[in-house]
Amino acid sequence: MVESDGKLKWGEMQSMKYTGRAVQELMRLKPLLSGNFRYVTRDISFGGYDIRKGWRILWVLFPAHMDPEIFDKPEKFQPSRFEGPSKSVPPYTYIPFGAGSRICPGSKFPRIDALLIIHHLVTNYGWTPLIPDEPLIHDPIPYPAKGLPVRLHPMLDRENTA
Ligand code: HEM
Repeated sequence: MVESDGKLKWGEMQSMKYTGRAVQELMRLKPLLSGNFRYVTRDISFGGYDIRKGWRILWVLFPAHMDPEIFDKPEKFQPSRFEGPSKSVPPYTYIPFGAGSRICPGSKFPRIDALLIIHHLVTNYGWTPLIPDEPLIHDPIPYPAKGLPVRLHPMLDRENTA
């Protein structure tokens, strides 16, 4: 997949479809932010509740990601759910980077980071977690409780061993 200098090119990253979906699915199940505050500028009604101008409200994104009407078996890690046309996930239902006019302008950067790390990790190394079933803590973003120590095993150079 990677051209001869070993560096991942932009076009190659675009072709990492399944890995891209795995990153999307990870951010659905473990979004880094839980939400944010908003100042209500006019009286509104939402979901049967009256919300008054001047209130400070907290919008939270995780419940949207767990809506079974949108995400079949929402508790399952299932990257293929993002396979279809983008319209299959309606607006404002998948919101790890927010939505609307305040949507995160940096949302493409974490995706590139994740694709790069996954690519280099799985093509160059095998690894063994040193703490099986290490729990996640929220501090306040999801983080492995002990920092995810792993033992890395470099892959053998395939060209020289073929
Ligand atoms: C995994 C990494 C990131 C996550 C999960 C994330 C998430 C978010 C979310 C949910 C919002 C919306 C907040 C709201 O509506 O109140 C936001 C806004 C924002 N993000 Fe990110 N972000 C990430 C990385 C970045 C990066 C790399 C940059 C810059 C290069 C960036 C710049 C911003 C800025 C400037 C805003 C404010 C936009 C506005 O209020 O108009 N973010 N981010």
